[in-house]
Amino acid sequence: MSNKGKNYKDKLARDRSFNSISQKFKKNIYGTPKGKIREAVLKRDFSQHIPWLENTTSPKRIIDIGGGQGQLAIYLASLGHEITLVDISEDMLKIAKEHVKQAGFSAQFKFIHAPLQALSELKLGTFDFVLCHAVLEWLVDQVEAITVLTKLVNDSGYLSLMYFNKDAHLFANMVYGNFDYVNQGLHVKQKVGLSPNHPVEPEVVDNALSCENFERICKTGVRCFHDYLRELEKGKAQFDDLLELELKYNQQEPYASLGRYTHLLLQANY
Ligand SMILES: C[S@@+](CC[C@H](N)C(=O)[O-])C[C@H]1O[C@@H](n2cnc3c(N)ncnc32)[C@H](O)[C@@H]1O
Repeated sequence: MSNKGKNYKDKLARDRSFNSISQKFKKNIYGTPKGKIREAVLKRDFSQHIPWLENTTSPKRIIDIGGGQGQLAIYLASLGHEITLVDISEDMLKIAKEHVKQAGFSAQFKFIHAPLQALSELKLGTFDFVLCHAVLEWLVDQVEAITVLTKLVNDSGYLSLMYFNKDAHLFANMVYGNFDYVNQGLHVKQKVGLSPNHPVEPEVVDNALSCENFERICKTGVRCFHDYLRELEKGKAQFDDLLELELKYNQQEPYASLGRYTHLLLQANY
């Protein structure tokens, strides 16, 4: 094996596949207030900024990388678009295929079992819309991943990047009183769970993107308040009030930078 090939395999071995936790992920994320906030925020950002999304005359090519179980991709298919869903985990893809079938959109879908890092080699062409949500924080080499993603966007196409925000992770852990964890630089032993092992530094993403021909058209915090509530129950009991306020303030600073996830929507400017 060439050195390049070996490095790549080593990196993948350190990256995280969701094979072992696909069922846990399904139960813990979707249908919860956290999942509902994420869904509402992303849909709002898309419809605010992508003019063809909801009233296209011809279907657009969309790729969702690390698309998991396909929930957002199904929404985009329901608007008439053609979707390529990529994931490194066979288990996640299997669940996604089943969801897509149940929703009746199989004809609009193509599934690819591959790591993000291999996509340049697959010669998929370019896309009108590239999504990569909640994946960067599982990768060892985040800058390399951003380079791969930007190359998949066609001229004037869009990139939607959502990542687990290290600044907010630190802030939340201070609020929770986890001082030892913060003192240890937010490091824990590798564990099988849903807590991302490589929280993303916003500066790393911004620097990587500044080298590309992209214009940032929106930055939104996802869960700017939900995770800091003193009374957790209020997040469920008064969910509608909470969601309304999240949507009202999550594109304004300083709240946008305090979201547990950061959503960036960018447009290629080639
Ligand atoms: C937290 S889930 C996010 C799923 C979905 N994008 C969402 O926002 O709900 C992360 C997904 O990325 C996939 N993944 C992790 N590393 C990957 C890689 N190197 N290439 C492609 N997919 C990867 C996992 O298998 C998992 O399905």
